[in-house]
Amino acid sequence: MFKDLALRFGVPLVLVLAAGTYFAVPLVDRMITEWFRSDIEMRARLVMNSIEEGLVPLLDRPSQPRIRNFLAKVTADERLVAIVVCGRNGKLLYKTEHTPNVITCSAQPPVVPAFEIVPSAGGRLDLASFPLRGETGEAQYLVIVHDLSFIDRRQSSARDYLIAFASLVALVLVGLCVLIAWLVLRSWMRSLIRDIRGKRFLAEVAGQQPADAVIGQVRQVLREIEEAQRQEVEFRENWTPDALRHIVKEHLNNTQLIVVSNREPYIHNRENGDTVVQYPASGMVTALEPVMRACSGVWIAHGSGSADKDAVDSFDQVRVPPEDPSYTLRRVWLDPEEEEGYYYGFSNEGIWPLCHLTFVRPSFRPQDWRYYTAVNRKFADAIKQEAKSERPVVLLQDFHVALAPGLVREHLPQATTALFWHIPWPNPAAFGICPWKAELLKGMLQANIIGFHTRFHCQNFLATVDRFVESHIDYEHSTVTVSNHTCHIAPYPISIEWPPHWLNSQAPVADCRRNVLERHRLARNVMLAVGVERWDYTKGIPDRVAAVERLLEVEPEWRGRLVLLQVAAPSRSKLPAYIEIQRSTHEAVDRINNRFGNEDYRPIILITEQRDPAEVYELYRAADFCIVSSLDDGMNLVAKEFVAAREDEDAVLVLSTFAGASRELVEALIVNPFDIEGTARAMAQALRMSREERRQRMRVMRYTVKQNNVFRWAGRMLMDAARIRQREQLTALSTDQTARDTGAMARARRR
Ligand code: G6P
Repeated sequence: MFKDLALRFGVPLVLVLAAGTYFAVPLVDRMITEWFRSDIEMRARLVMNSIEEGLVPLLDRPSQPRIRNFLAKVTADERLVAIVVCGRNGKLLYKTEHTPNVITCSAQPPVVPAFEIVPSAGGRLDLASFPLRGETGEAQYLVIVHDLSFIDRRQSSARDYLIAFASLVALVLVGLCVLIAWLVLRSWMRSLIRDIRGKRFLAEVAGQQPADAVIGQVRQVLREIEEAQRQEVEFRENWTPDALRHIVKEHLNNTQLIVVSNREPYIHNRENGDTVVQYPASGMVTALEPVMRACSGVWIAHGSGSADKDAVDSFDQVRVPPEDPSYTLRRVWLDPEEEEGYYYGFSNEGIWPLCHLTFVRPSFRPQDWRYYTAVNRKFADAIKQEAKSERPVVLLQDFHVALAPGLVREHLPQATTALFWHIPWPNPAAFGICPWKAELLKGMLQANIIGFHTRFHCQNFLATVDRFVESHIDYEHSTVTVSNHTCHIAPYPISIEWPPHWLNSQAPVADCRRNVLERHRLARNVMLAVGVERWDYTKGIPDRVAAVERLLEVEPEWRGRLVLLQVAAPSRSKLPAYIEIQRSTHEAVDRINNRFGNEDYRPIILITEQRDPAEVYELYRAADFCIVSSLDDGMNLVAKEFVAAREDEDAVLVLSTFAGASRELVEALIVNPFDIEGTARAMAQALRMSREERRQRMRVMRYTVKQNNVFRWAGRMLMDAARIRQREQLTALSTDQTARDTGAMARARRR
């Protein structure tokens, strides 16, 4: 910094002083000449006055030796070079010894004293001519010649002094300016670093005006930039894949994106000797896949398909989507014990029931925890292998990889990591039963960002950290600092791609309805309700079935007319809780179908296999209403998909208040799925709702999902990641500079 400042201040200052000196030298020369010249002229007058009286009588009675003698005495003065006496017609009568040859007499004698400077071999000469008064014989005027060469010598020394003085002034001024600038800049820098570290740009601390106006302005500008970036994200209309690509390009400098999850977006399975590609039933995949298609990068996930190994290259990579590859899927292999302990055990029997308020008791087995830790390390190793630079952006997905942020930081300390938690976060008391709560929380907090769907989940998380981890929590900015690392906690409500690409191949709504009714041999006048989910105890499938039963009980006119078509995709089926939910669902469906059905009519059609997204969208388009009755759910993207599927705006959404989506889709009929009566009433309301009301509600919901689509979700998170990276860069720069300055000062002191 010192060198920089010296160059910045020194060069212009030296130039200005050099230019000043360049113009001042001739002025000073002229001034000196004028001074000495008038001095010499005065001297010449004095000499003239003092010799005139003695000389005139001598000239009157000319005697060469006497006159010469007289004049020789006068010219004894060092600077008085010669005296010449001129006569009529320019005749030179007398001259002293050493009179330069250039001195001649003029035929025109001066009437008054006249002065003239003439050059000569020995330097400039001053000729002062005085007319002689009185009886002077032939003599008419006198020329007193003074040597002016000493003026040249004085001028040259004055020039040397002036240049030396200017150089000294320049040196002192440059030194002073650099020192003052360095001190001021250093204090600004310290203030700014404090600001960056303390995140003070976001809001001026009340009553604390910055002492320095410049610092105040810098803070203001940075606040405005942050605000503009925030607004760009908050108010940007039309979030599209292009808008997201723009963010990655402009704000993240095209940094490599690495997504990490347990579930892979494409599963290669072997079926009857052929390889088929399956799309998993996962809200996380539904959301992330379009983001990856837009931004490209690497997606690291567990290769769980029976033909997955055949599909990858020697680096365990395969380009996807299969029909139009745009990003890389890197598969991580788990052996059966690892899958058992990490996936079925700790993830799905531990964290899953721990985080969902569904009264299913979590199981915590040390063996599972060990596998969970080991597999998280495996994912972190894969991230290290796939990272093309020291600073990739790593987007970690969900509860399967809670320890990954800490492990990634070990390998790639400069990576920017965001952990998104796709499921709810419980209150501290509920989370507190986990034997490894502190380890989990500390691992998570090594991320730069932890995202949840709702502010409520963020608050639960902060309260949990407060209870179990020694940390500094800044509630104003929603950050947690543990051992000097700050993690930002924020809500990012996840969503779906808009418009979903699965809609491209869909028939008009009326055709979809006709197809579905025909396929399931349903009468044309039935009112069709649909439910689509993984067969999970958190989804409240038995509860909605019970609500259908209650509705048919209390409003018999719907018997024979209302059908619930429920897709329940088997999931985690070997776990006891899932076996139990399948059993209880079958039991409830059979009971109701037996009670209200007949040969031609079954109130509930249970489809117990996974359906491809295209088929699911056809079902959405065929339905009169969709029911989402989760007992606890992070967001629930089925609700949003249903809304997106209905461009005809002619359908109703019945939505659980315990799904995160209910915070956004407030125009749905919101239900408490534990309240069977209330859910049945909501279904009846959906069935009776006027066409106009259906349209109005659906229109608003469609607008909400369109605006808050998944590109916006990813865009907001990536913009926050970009801001964190900017701050880190700034801090690193200033820290480097401070270290360099301190080093330089220490070296200077040693010298
Ligand atoms: C939830 C989780 C996802 C998971 C999905 C399917 O939505 O948040 O991470 O992928 O369930 O579960 P599975 O165990 O089949 O991956």
